[in-house]
Amino acid sequence: MNYSIETAPLEELQCDCIIVGVYQDQQLSPSAIALNNSTNGLIGNIVNRGDLSGKNGETVLINAIPNSKIERILLVGLGENAALSGKDYKKALLAAVNSLKKPQIKTVVCCLAECEVTARDWQWKASHIIEVFNDAVYQFTELKSDKETESKIEKISITAPETERIAVESGLLQGKAIAEGMNLAKQLGDLPGNLCTPSYLAEQAIKLGQTYSSIEVNILEEAGMADLGMGALLSVSRGSRQPAKFIILDYQCGEKNAKPIVLVGKGLTFDAGGISLKQAPGMDEMKYDMCGGAAVLGTLLAAAQMQLPLNIIGLIPSSENMPDGDANKPGDILTSMSGQTIEVLNTDAEGRLLLCDTLTYAERYNPDVVIDLATLTGACLVALGRIPSGLLGNDDALCNDLTAAGECANDTVWRLPLWEEYQEQLKSNFADLANVGGKDGGTITAACFLSKFAEKFRWAHLDIAGTAWRTGQTKGSTGRPVPLLSQYLINRTLTDKS
Ligand code: BES
Ligand code: MN
Ligand code: ZN
Repeated sequence: MNYSIETAPLEELQCDCIIVGVYQDQQLSPSAIALNNSTNGLIGNIVNRGDLSGKNGETVLINAIPNSKIERILLVGLGENAALSGKDYKKALLAAVNSLKKPQIKTVVCCLAECEVTARDWQWKASHIIEVFNDAVYQFTELKSDKETESKIEKISITAPETERIAVESGLLQGKAIAEGMNLAKQLGDLPGNLCTPSYLAEQAIKLGQTYSSIEVNILEEAGMADLGMGALLSVSRGSRQPAKFIILDYQCGEKNAKPIVLVGKGLTFDAGGISLKQAPGMDEMKYDMCGGAAVLGTLLAAAQMQLPLNIIGLIPSSENMPDGDANKPGDILTSMSGQTIEVLNTDAEGRLLLCDTLTYAERYNPDVVIDLATLTGACLVALGRIPSGLLGNDDALCNDLTAAGECANDTVWRLPLWEEYQEQLKSNFADLANVGGKDGGTITAACFLSKFAEKFRWAHLDIAGTAWRTGQTKGSTGRPVPLLSQYLINRTLTDKS
């Protein structure tokens, strides 16, 4: 997709559709007023007739404009004539793009960056328009014979006054980077487990490193993991015919001595549950169990494209969880890389087995912070549904920064407590730790387990089980939490002095 800024008067623009906003009570946005004047009061007539009340998310497509070069105008309701919340702004943008999914519409001019949004500037609005439009037109057609897509939008121009040119141009670059990061994460997520294997994921990481010279990629094979003593991780992959891969991405664009931000992503390319086999309904969705890993790749793509002056390490432990003859059995006891022993009471709690060795591995980077992202627990869906990702961590400042970044990016998180009291549930009669903590507070006990391997640094855990993909009719990857992490990284470049 092609993005640009447009500062010329509206009536002179050549495009398939111009998008303008209308507030409640028949109040037109500045661009709607301009178009209304140049079309003989056309928009005013439609609004006065009551065809558009101006409620947020409502749309009317005017597809014939007499005596004008303009092909179409899309009116979008914005709600009350006041500053919009970031959420309502996204809602209006989504409504707009969803009503333009027609093959005739290839080029659009969006005049919605002029809307006031509480605490957000032109840069944010431009970036958000690009992200939302891109997200909405994405379709996974790779494996269909008929590759016809719903939407043919190829070009978006954002109108802005000359005085905002610099802000909007930087918003375009940012939006494009995040959108491409999300696309990569979504593509990998939607790809089925027979194609997206640990080896495939590793190849895609290597490709990313070839595209962006600032990203260096290394892959550890099982022998290398064995040398490091990654007994927990390797125990999971023993149950599968696909060899595990440990993907290491190294992006060093910050100060030479600045401690890195380490991003860890669960890369389980298919989770059958192992010997504690999952039920059949919905099991196909366990191809999405690598979405944490995919989001690490997407976020690094975005960081590299924005050339953020930071040091970032991406770590993706990748494996399948299958019920092979050599698979983990309930009761098995493993020795993790940290030396702590783990009793496997349920082989379906495999994510934490991958992550614990990865967290121990992260120590060698002397990290400033470690953030892991994982489709870790079904319990997170019970607790929070599919709106925010779960957030837990051992550092309030880091958790607050992530919460703020999520709010800004419209990719929200909600913090759950990580209290000592919960550790009780992970006691094992035979090992240092059990890998499950019973049926109560499953998201919290999973994080408690991880915290035992994250004592040497500031750490936060994002449980993205409810947010990494949509289920049902619109089943598909969301690309979350790439927007949140990208925003966190951008914020770090604004506040970091070192
Ligand atoms: N990948 C799953 C978590 C999951 C389940 C995400 C459903 C999204 C939807 C994870 O490996 C898992 O199986 N977790 C178990 C943990 C339990 C055995 C303690 C779960 O949530 O059932
Ligand atoms: Mn599992
Ligand atoms: Zn899993």
